Amino acid sequence: MEKKPLDGRKGPPRREVPPVVGLLLAMALMNALLYLCLDRLFISTPRSSLDPRHCPYGYFRVGQMNNCSAWLSCEELRTDVRPLKRVGEGAVKRVFLSEWKERKVALSRLTSLEMKEDFLHGLQMLKSLQGKHVVTLLGFCEEDNTILTEYHPLGSLSNLEETFNLSKYQNVNTWQQRLQLAMDYVGIINYLHHSPLGTLVMCDSSDLPKTLSQYLLTSNFSIVVNDLDALPLVNHSSGMFVKCGHRELHGDFVAPEQLWPYGKGHIEWLPPARPNQGQGQTATETRALSGNRTRVSLDYRPTL
Ligand SMILES: Nc1ncnc2c1ncn2[C@@H]1O[C@H](COP(=O)(O)OP(=O)(O)O)[C@@H](O)[C@H]1O
Ligand SMILES: [Mg+2]
Repeated sequence: MEKKPLDGRKGPPRREVPPVVGLLLAMALMNALLYLCLDRLFISTPRSSLDPRHCPYGYFRVGQMNNCSAWLSCEELRTDVRPLKRVGEGAVKRVFLSEWKERKVALSRLTSLEMKEDFLHGLQMLKSLQGKHVVTLLGFCEEDNTILTEYHPLGSLSNLEETFNLSKYQNVNTWQQRLQLAMDYVGIINYLHHSPLGTLVMCDSSDLPKTLSQYLLTSNFSIVVNDLDALPLVNHSSGMFVKCGHRELHGDFVAPEQLWPYGKGHIEWLPPARPNQGQGQTATETRALSGNRTRVSLDYRPTL
């Protein structure tokens, strides 16, 4: 004789969905919705990949300038640029808020001739990588060891928390803005890795204070990279990679290129050796090993 189901209903027995599975499904649904909303938020305010102020190689445009102007020459830098006050300093450059044709500009001067190789490498990179990710170059004079760039009054990312804490910037002190800054940073690293020159590795990044000091906060709260002095090139085709310096570095963000022991096939990234530099270290390495980080003292901090 056929057994009847106890509850008297026909058909296969119903499987109850455990409450925890329901909860997980609800959470997954909420995550998906949140993701879509965020996506819309960021899609609705796209940042163009093209720099609207783009100029041909050798030219620049800053602020309200209508036309592109040629990079300033030694002569123009000497006569038309007036340094006002020091706003920052690292191992390679001393940076002065300066005036050029009633505009605020940043004049960087080489700190010591021992660092000239790094200084010239940084200048070469600035020239080659101009665009929305890199501080705008206005001119340079190799003879005088000077570089002129667009001045960013909010200074480097080292000042970020102080800037966000100012009451006039409370409206931008949001997690969305902070996420956007993080994405700007990743965008810069990505640009350097896929640059027109090839794969470039940002070596000046072995700890947080050092990393933050290489990037500037623009007045519209985006990021540009400012210090490209330690930016070696990877040569994929010849199987050569990058090692930043001679010795093991310590720090929170030590990159694989700075970890020891390193694998075979790596090359050292070293500017030509300078005879009087201690134990054959590069300037970048000397700076890193000595813990001599880029700093902005209270005196030099730009007024916001
Ligand atoms: N264009 C600029 N506008 C405002 N501040 C700047 C500018 N360029 C540099 N600085 C300040 O000077 C500091 C040192 O500049 P940086 O190029 O990193 O020198 P170094 O190569 O010696 O490390 C930066 O961390 C920043 O605070
Ligand atoms: Mg620096």
